[in-house]
Amino acid sequence: MDTKLFSTVRLRQILNDLKRRPEDAARELKISHTKIKKILNGKANLDFKTVKKIIKIWPVQVDSLINHKFFYKKSPDIKIFTKKQSLKTSRIIKRNGKDYYEYRDTVMEKFAPFRPEWIRTICKVNNNKPTNKNVIWNKGHLLHQFTYFVGNINFYYVNDKGVKSVAKMKTGDSMYISPYVPHSFASRDNLENFIIALTYLDKVTPQLQDNLTLIGNLNAKKILVDVKDGSKINKDLIKRFKNNLLLTDEEISKRLKKIKKNNVYEKYSNILGVNTKDVMAFDKRNKVTINKKNNSNKWYFPNSRQKTFQISELASSKFVPDAKSIEINVLKNNYIVLENFCHQYLYVLSDNIKLKHNSKIFKLNRDDTFYLKPFVKFSIINKNANVLILRVPGNISGDNLLQLSQLGKKNIERVLSENSRWY
Ligand SMILES: [Fe+2]
Repeated sequence: MDTKLFSTVRLRQILNDLKRRPEDAARELKISHTKIKKILNGKANLDFKTVKKIIKIWPVQVDSLINHKFFYKKSPDIKIFTKKQSLKTSRIIKRNGKDYYEYRDTVMEKFAPFRPEWIRTICKVNNNKPTNKNVIWNKGHLLHQFTYFVGNINFYYVNDKGVKSVAKMKTGDSMYISPYVPHSFASRDNLENFIIALTYLDKVTPQLQDNLTLIGNLNAKKILVDVKDGSKINKDLIKRFKNNLLLTDEEISKRLKKIKKNNVYEKYSNILGVNTKDVMAFDKRNKVTINKKNNSNKWYFPNSRQKTFQISELASSKFVPDAKSIEINVLKNNYIVLENFCHQYLYVLSDNIKLKHNSKIFKLNRDDTFYLKPFVKFSIINKNANVLILRVPGNISGDNLLQLSQLGKKNIERVLSENSRWY
C-alpha cells in the first residue's frame, strides 16, 4: 500500500496508459532501470524530482500522482458532533451592519459532500412582503441547498420568472434550492427560530470547474443544452451527437426510415448510437422546491402492519435525483438495521435518541448531529426518537455509476486497485 505523498500505484497505472514499459520509462526519465523498478515495487520513493520530470515530459496532471491516503489514513464510519461542540462555533453574521444570522457548525466530514450549518434567523419581519426592506438577500451559491425549518420563518427566494417571492415556513417544513438562486430568511416572531441549512456538492465539482475554465467562457455557454421542456425530445442533445459524427440531415432521415421502432427516443438513440436517456430532455422542474409538513408524503416502515417508523418525505429535486431527505419518527423500540449508499447527515430532533452502530449504542440528545459513511449499518432503536436525514451520493452516481456498473462486479476490484500490468 502507498504510504508516501506520491503514489507508485498511480505511476504504474500512468505507465500502463502511456504504454511505457519500465525500461522505456527509465530511459525517458533519465533514471536507472533499477530505480524505476524499485519505485514501481514500492521499495523506493517516488520523489519530487522524478514527479517534476514526469509532469514535464508526459501529458499527466500532478493530481493523478497524489496518494490521497497520505494525509488521511482512514475515513471514519461515524462521526458525532454534540450541541455543546456546536455552541462553541457560534458566530453572529451581520448584514448591512445589523445582526442577521447566528451560525453554528454541525457535523462535517472532509470525505462527505455536504457543508451543514445551524442558522438562527435573528432578523424579524412584521409583514410577509417579499420586498420587505429589512430582508437582506444573498446572490445564491454554487452548492445545492436543502433546508429544514424549526419555528416561524419566512423563506425568501427568487422564483423561475426572476420574481422575488416568499414562503411562510413552520417547523417540519423544508425546501430545496438549486445553485445560484438568491435567498434569505427572517423570523416572524421573537422566539428562537432556526434552520438546518445543508449545502452540498453534486456534479458541479471543482474538477468540473477546471474543465470549464479550460474551454473558456464562450464555449462553456455553447455547450449548455435546453433543459426547459421534459416532454419533448431534446433537440440540443441530438445536435450534439450529430455534430460529433458530422451527420447530415439527409443521413439522419435515411437512418430513421430503416428503424422500425415507434418510440421517438428509441429511434434517435439507435441512429445516433447513444443511450435512450441521452436524447431525453430533463424534467421541467422549478429551481426551488417547497415542501410543507402537512402536505408531505408520509408512510410506515417497514410496512403499514408493523408501523415501526413513520417516514416523511422532505424537499428534493429531480435535478439531483439521488439526494434525498426524510424525517423519521420512531414509533416502537426496534433493531431495524438501515444501510444506504449515500453519505448521510443526521440531525437529532427529539430529546434523546439511541443510535446503535455495530454493538455500540450512542446516546444522543436534541440538536446533536452525526455523519455516517456510505454503507455503514445503523439502527435508531428507541421509541419516540425523531431524526432528520439527508442523503447525498457523491460522484458514484448518474453516468459515473452506469459506466462503473457496465464494468461489472468482477472488474470493480481492479478499478479500486489497478496496480498490475494489463498487457
Ligand atoms: Fe444558502
